[in-house]
Amino acid sequence: MGVDKISGETRNITAKISAHYVDNARELPWRIMPHQSADGILPDPYYVWLSEVMLQQTTVAAVVAYFVKFIRHWPTIADLAAADEADVLAAWAGLGYYARARNLHKCARYIVSELDGAFPATEADLLKLPGVGAYTAAAIAAIAFGARAIVVDANIERLVARLFAIDTPLPGGKKDIRIAMDALTPDAEGKANKVGDFAQACMDIGAGICTAKSPKCSLCPVQIHCVAHARGNPELHPVKPPKKAKPIRKGRFFWIEQDGKLLLVTRPPTGMLGSMRALPDDDWAAGKDGHGQPPLTGGWQLRENLVQHSFTHFSLEVDVAVYHSDKNINKTWDNHGAGLGSRKPIWWPIDTIEDAGLPTLYLKAVNRILGQGKRKD
Ligand code: ADE
Repeated sequence: MGVDKISGETRNITAKISAHYVDNARELPWRIMPHQSADGILPDPYYVWLSEVMLQQTTVAAVVAYFVKFIRHWPTIADLAAADEADVLAAWAGLGYYARARNLHKCARYIVSELDGAFPATEADLLKLPGVGAYTAAAIAAIAFGARAIVVDANIERLVARLFAIDTPLPGGKKDIRIAMDALTPDAEGKANKVGDFAQACMDIGAGICTAKSPKCSLCPVQIHCVAHARGNPELHPVKPPKKAKPIRKGRFFWIEQDGKLLLVTRPPTGMLGSMRALPDDDWAAGKDGHGQPPLTGGWQLRENLVQHSFTHFSLEVDVAVYHSDKNINKTWDNHGAGLGSRKPIWWPIDTIEDAGLPTLYLKAVNRILGQGKRKD
């Protein structure tokens, strides 16, 4: 179906989705529940922004604990702005897409220093913030400020594509999905946050009922309006383009252990996993394999193909070269010269390695070497 066929039923659909939310909204630590919204209460924009940045490409189930940890460490945007970047990155470790954490910190500093700590309230002004793209600006405008904005995340995309059986494959189909979401989105009027609540209602239905696989159509408040359901196979929507095979890249990590401590480095500020603590490696990067050469001469023990990790655009297969030393490595390391070898070593006690804030890729390697991680990746 094309959007030209979007029916006059939209008001009905909107009313049913909004009513369903009153009784079924998920309780989430950043959310104002519908009965509070009915009293005109809006959520803290700091909470909404933080949660929306965390929720990009990440599920609610994975985000909740991180959100709670961040709010405990940094209860206000001023606290986050005053934090060291290294602490923010370490607290983010495991959530992935680390550019989000660097931009989050940059954005907090910008809002505190340039905007007196106050979030902009319009979509256009929100879009000017570091790390805030079209989706996030719309979501913050709607959820934190009640402004009329068209909010389309992956859950809403799926729900809307099915309701109207939008047949144009993604990404082309996004235009029609947006037009349909515009038609469904209520006006911003009255005391309650109609727009923000409607967006979150759609997200909840997308996440819990209109799931990618085996949708629970019998629980859906708008099943009778759903064209994809009527056609008998809602899983066919949204129509996706054929999947491209991911290239496989090779890399090598270097495990250098001395006196119960492990040598870590801080990655360069730009590029993948930028500014994160990591094991030294052989310079693998998004576009190339590593060179395999160790940063020191020594009695290396090679553990081949110990870790596999999937990034958005490629998979990485990693060997880990292990070196236990009883001589002072710092000297050799400092003299090693350019490249990885010149990075400042951080000697981290192995028994508290889980506090180092290592990204999942490196944590997998650590767990494998320490014999705690099963190879299921
Ligand atoms: N996914 C992205 N934003 C969300 C929100 N505010 N509530 C639930 N799921 C979401």
